[in-house]
Amino acid sequence: MSAAKIPFVDLGQQYQALKREMDSAVTAVMGRGDFILGEDVAAFEREFAEFCQAEHCIGVSDGLDALQLALRVLGIGPGDEVILPTHTFIATALAVWQSGAKPVLVDVDPRCYTMDPEATARAITPRTKALLPVHLYGQPADMDPLLDLARKHKLSVVEDAAQAHGAEYKGRRCGTLGDIGCFSFYPGKNLGAYGDAGGITTQREDLANRLRILRNYGQQPKNVHPLKGFNSRLDTMQAAILRVKLRHLEAWNESRRKAAARYGELLLNSKIQAPATATYAKHVWHLYVIETDHRPAVQSALDAAGASHGVHYPSPVHLHEAFRDLGYARGSFPVAEALTPRIVSLPIFPEITEDQIRRIATACRSV
Ligand SMILES: Cc1ncc(COP(=O)(O)O)c(C=O)c1O
Repeated sequence: MSAAKIPFVDLGQQYQALKREMDSAVTAVMGRGDFILGEDVAAFEREFAEFCQAEHCIGVSDGLDALQLALRVLGIGPGDEVILPTHTFIATALAVWQSGAKPVLVDVDPRCYTMDPEATARAITPRTKALLPVHLYGQPADMDPLLDLARKHKLSVVEDAAQAHGAEYKGRRCGTLGDIGCFSFYPGKNLGAYGDAGGITTQREDLANRLRILRNYGQQPKNVHPLKGFNSRLDTMQAAILRVKLRHLEAWNESRRKAAARYGELLLNSKIQAPATATYAKHVWHLYVIETDHRPAVQSALDAAGASHGVHYPSPVHLHEAFRDLGYARGSFPVAEALTPRIVSLPIFPEITEDQIRRIATACRSV
């Protein structure tokens, strides 16, 4: 009999473990009927702000909107440039485009895969208004040199923390390092809803107040519209679900760290390059991404072992058709271009077992 398939994440198993709490949280929303900006939204915002060590959290409809609203509230728009890494999920660049500003891409660190501060310094022009580092795979970007650049050139800093709930840079949580932090609660994230959801964190009360207005039709109070806004409210049902899960997030992140450490031990002295953790980072392992010279063979070995796998991401932003108009070409960002054909994401989720990790590591080593 062949062994059971290893999923990439196991949301069904997680639901079974939380079923009683979850069902009663969702039923309570339906009983109250406060579906739009209901009491669970305000409660989740308080609890997630506390988790992030942030002063304010504003719940929004998804991570892309979190980024887009963050740029807008900082006054960024047409004629402005925003610098971001080319090795990221497309949403980071789409948010800049949606704000009306121009995305300016830079290469990434070859071992930590986050925005290269020296390349960032070279990309600054008189039109640059903001830096948009991504805490990729759950590891913070190297923020101190980026924050220095921001101070020197009077730039805003928006963190794309969509993959970094609870990650820390020199003891400080992601989402509190720049002016604004943006989170996605897409179902597969370390903290994931049962649909689309997102959140924005900030220490600045002025920005928090404007964001609350912007996400709700630019309205405050009812039928008074001081701003042109959006319908980008965090759904109350999703907030109720996120509150249940948030109680477990610290423990889940710890389980992910244990799983990553086990992978590291089992892949030692092999041809697989395990991911690096920077000395400044407390990693939350949203993704466990290895590098290999033999990607097709590793993928086949994982298939044969019944293990799911992925590639995050197969193409850097500058090589997508959608962003051809930015004028970059193959060769523009050599680190990201060398990386993308070599990476494979292995399954990592809080419930992953020792046996599953062993099967996956053995398959990787067999190549
Ligand atoms: C790095 C990054 N930025 C932004 C997003 C966008 O988040 P969402 O899918 O919630 O819009 C995601 C996740 O999908 C992401 O991984």
